[in-house]
Amino acid sequence: MVWAFYLNDCLMRLIVLLLPVKLKKTPLFDFHRASGGKMVEFAGWSMPVQYTDSHISSHMHTRQHCSLFDVSHMLQTNVHGKDRVKFMESLVVADIAELKDNQGTLSLFTNDKGGIIDDLIVTKTDQTFLYVVSNAGCADKDSAHMKAKLAEFKSAGHDVDLEFLDDALIAVQGPSMSRVLQEGLKDDLTKLTFMFSALTTAFGVPCRITRCGYTGEDGVEISVPSSRVVELTERLLSNPEVKLAGLGARDSLRLEAGLCLYGNDIDETTTPVEGTLVWTIGKRRRQTGDFPGADIIVPQIKNKTQKKRVGLVSTGPPVRPHTPILSTDGKVIGEVTSGCPSPCLKKNVAMGYVDSAFSKNGTQIQVEVRKKAVPATVSKMPFVPTNYYTG
Ligand SMILES: *[C@@H]1O[C@H](CO)[C@@H](O)[C@H](O)[C@H]1NC(C)=O
Ligand SMILES: *[C@@H]1O[C@H](CO)[C@@H](O)[C@H](O)[C@H]1NC(C)=O
Repeated sequence: MVWAFYLNDCLMRLIVLLLPVKLKKTPLFDFHRASGGKMVEFAGWSMPVQYTDSHISSHMHTRQHCSLFDVSHMLQTNVHGKDRVKFMESLVVADIAELKDNQGTLSLFTNDKGGIIDDLIVTKTDQTFLYVVSNAGCADKDSAHMKAKLAEFKSAGHDVDLEFLDDALIAVQGPSMSRVLQEGLKDDLTKLTFMFSALTTAFGVPCRITRCGYTGEDGVEISVPSSRVVELTERLLSNPEVKLAGLGARDSLRLEAGLCLYGNDIDETTTPVEGTLVWTIGKRRRQTGDFPGADIIVPQIKNKTQKKRVGLVSTGPPVRPHTPILSTDGKVIGEVTSGCPSPCLKKNVAMGYVDSAFSKNGTQIQVEVRKKAVPATVSKMPFVPTNYYTG
């Protein structure tokens, strides 16, 4: 038996080695390996899921101190041309025209059926381009989607161009980020509030710093030339407040903060209204109704949708994606889309979609874990209060 298993295991490894799948590597790949990173496949990339510290201790370190995450796998795009705002607004739900110089916002690419193609951050720089960051897992479809619209715009005589960046991107997240980063900056970081972006130099490395992130903590994302990212990372890590953290901690941090993971919590079958992301739809855009899927999405804002994304809290066995959600009398009323034990709350936190009749805060429901119904409560999100720097 043992030998059969051993041979089988060897065979599996051989097959894995021979498979022509070539994972993409970020400019920090060698650095991750040298730092004890446990590399896993994520969206076609080889990324660290954790380093030498446990996932829980990385999670807590981020909430109490500061962590550095490699997010270079995300797609960074500059949108140039004098019709860039009109171009981007033809693809997403945000009111980009009303953004202040260097202000960014979370937005959504939507399709004609009202579904969400991806979530993204679009920043209206004070130069002649928009800076867009979207998900690694959607990079191919996002770029194809933007290129198709670009061709349409160009043939209509509009002035737009796309530039896909090969810069690295690191996220530095946690309450001591500002102290750590300020040491390397000439600019005053207290002037850069949540969702604003600036071109600057950090520890001698030219970069774009955007005060955002996906942990619920104060933090920044730093876009930096690939050739200089190891140098900047090493410089930041030389401060004992800063530790490396991987995808594992990133997932539990974003879930505690109530933030969606594309592909789990939102996708092409969910609309912004069902996903409780109506706040991302600009007021003017609701009136003009000129974004993809507006004829489905705008009426949903006034009328209840049949299903809605909610937060869930429970005790007992961990709640994982695809767990059925039941009413207290045992009817299936929805499904979990993300879930984990919360390192901060010491309870299980999850999000999922339920029949809207069950979406009110405090509603008692059940989750079916390993064929057993476990009591759970619908909860407001974020589960853990966010700590964004608003000045
Ligand atoms: C809301 O739903 C009702 C019933 O389905 C429908 O008659 C009405 O037209 C809808 N309202 C809007 C604004 O779509
Ligand atoms: C949500 O419901 C819980 C009870 O489950 C209650 O303690 C809490 O105050 C409610 N929160 C809000 C914002 O209504």
